[in-house]
Amino acid sequence: MRAVVTGGAGFLGSHLCDKLLAEGWDVLAVDNFITGAKGNLSHLTKNKKFKFQKADVSRPLKVAGKVGYVLHFASPALSALSRRARPRGSRSLRSASPGSKSGSL
Ligand SMILES: NC(=O)c1ccc[n+]([C@@H]2O[C@H](COP(=O)([O-])OP(=O)(O)OC[C@H]3O[C@@H](n4cnc5c(N)ncnc54)[C@H](O)[C@@H]3O)[C@@H](O)[C@H]2O)c1
Repeated sequence: MRAVVTGGAGFLGSHLCDKLLAEGWDVLAVDNFITGAKGNLSHLTKNKKFKFQKADVSRPLKVAGKVGYVLHFASPALSALSRRARPRGSRSLRSASPGSKSGSL
């Protein structure tokens, strides 16, 4: 059986790839590295049952071969995004939300 794991280079997705491979699955991980890291998958590159495809899963995606399951973990954890993507000096979402007493954008 073959599974596609979106967000495969992320925290949960990479551990899921490990688990599925350990159980004998073929795995295609898909990720665009917005918060994930190649290093999370580097130990799998020599595994013949593992493939990786760099892609943004919010766009139409074609994958080669049959797919049994798609496990969708391509959703950046907010903590990872705020560490990596929030511009310096920007306010948190909470403080920028409508009705917040602590300010707006
Ligand atoms: N880590 C936890 O303990 C935990 C707990 C509960 C819920 N969650 C949720 O599970 C999800 C995954 O969590 P995580 O900790 O693995 O986050 P993560 O940021 O480590 O992993 C998300 C992965 O998805 C990738 N990604 C994001 N958008 C993409 C896109 N459009 N196309 C391709 N790849 C994309 C990122 O590059 C990253 O590798 C998040 O939504 C998070 O909120 C996480």
